[in-house]
Amino acid sequence: MARVSVLNGVNLDMIGRRDPELYGGLGLRELEARIFEWAAQLGMTVKCRQTNSEGEYIDWCHEALDWADGVVVNPGAWTHYSYAIRDAVELFEAPVVEVHLSNIEVREQWRRNSLIADLAKKRVIGKGPAGYREALEYLADGK
Ligand code: DQA
Repeated sequence: MARVSVLNGVNLDMIGRRDPELYGGLGLRELEARIFEWAAQLGMTVKCRQTNSEGEYIDWCHEALDWADGVVVNPGAWTHYSYAIRDAVELFEAPVVEVHLSNIEVREQWRRNSLIADLAKKRVIGKGPAGYREALEYLADGK
């Protein structure tokens, strides 16, 4: 697994200011710095992106189709209601790992539904920033 796209969606740029109990307290840039370190340890090239624009997120999914050998997606709240992002994620032939910093299974009812859950080869939920490491490790194992 040489090339991995990490696509963070809406409000993930604010994780440093959001509830640290839920989101781990790291800022996005710190999280991305860790992701780059983990990827280097695993011998992967990683592209990290974040946007608050749904259309841009979809464009980056499309771009990753011809670049990435594996994809890590955390669409934030779009996870729960964006059919357009589901359609974009469905295009991937490369393995997709769905990551959420917080445990969406034990929060409000509306967060429990993920429109991409059945498209993901693996889901890592509620493990904070370390969830991204687990996702990269999974992809590195070539599963
Ligand atoms: C999130 C969970 C979503 O429910 C929420 O809207 C987010 C972040 C997470 O990483 O825990 O913005 O995707």
